[in-house]
Amino acid sequence: MATKNFFTSSVGRKIIVGLTGLFLISFLVVHLLINSFILVDLVNPNDNGATFNEAAHFMSHNWLIRVVEIGLFAGLIAHIAMTVKLTIENKKKRPVQYAVFDGKANSKWYARSMAILGSILLMFLAVHLSQFWWPTKEALYITHADENSFEMVKATLTNPINLAIYVVGVVALGYHLLHGFQSAFQSLGLNHKKYTPIIKTIGTVFAIAVPAGFAFIALSVFLGLVQ
Ligand code: HEM
Repeated sequence: MATKNFFTSSVGRKIIVGLTGLFLISFLVVHLLINSFILVDLVNPNDNGATFNEAAHFMSHNWLIRVVEIGLFAGLIAHIAMTVKLTIENKKKRPVQYAVFDGKANSKWYARSMAILGSILLMFLAVHLSQFWWPTKEALYITHADENSFEMVKATLTNPINLAIYVVGVVALGYHLLHGFQSAFQSLGLNHKKYTPIIKTIGTVFAIAVPAGFAFIALSVFLGLVQ
């Protein structure tokens, strides 16, 4: 398939959505791992966020991570752009079928609501990046002020409105992943009698455990368990 055809064909677009989805999923694992250092305070109250700050400092100063970060944003944009394109095309292709198509009988509500869940996630990300990512970059490149990621997280997540935004964000993330994880493998054509059920199970565990991990950290900070 010529390169141009690959990017404009629906199979090519599905592959891009699947690949970028898996890349974003791997980012979530790293992000949760770094965030889990916030919880060091639970077992060692003398830590005062030092372990998390060290990890955050490494992530924001290492050149290789900076390059991956550009890839992350490019992947996010490609994932959204291709999904929007596919959704519009599918709607154009099947204007009549929808009148008789009983989606409820064939799929779960969250599988039919990926665009809505993705839009909620995008809104969450806009708030999240303005609260954490931008101030970090501002301190690093503009004001050259001392960064204290731990204090920034505490100041943000002790606010009940922010906590509510995070809870809504991670619930949307969970449902998005509940369908998206296994769907990414299907888009890549990886269908196998033996392995597909295993992928589905791993996807379900991942879709529950990862958002629950983010929510647990946010709640621990909100409740003052992490000082
Ligand atoms: C307890 C919940 C969370 C906390 C405390 C948290 C904390 C942070 C912090 C401190 C940063 C800035 C890192 C830096 O630039 O140095 C960051 C960046 C980011 N977060 Fe989160 N986060 C949380 C949940 C999430 C979730 C659920 C998602 C995705 C759905 C997410 C996606 C991102 C992205 C895309 C970035 C920018 C990545 C980069 O700079 O390379 N975060 N987060």
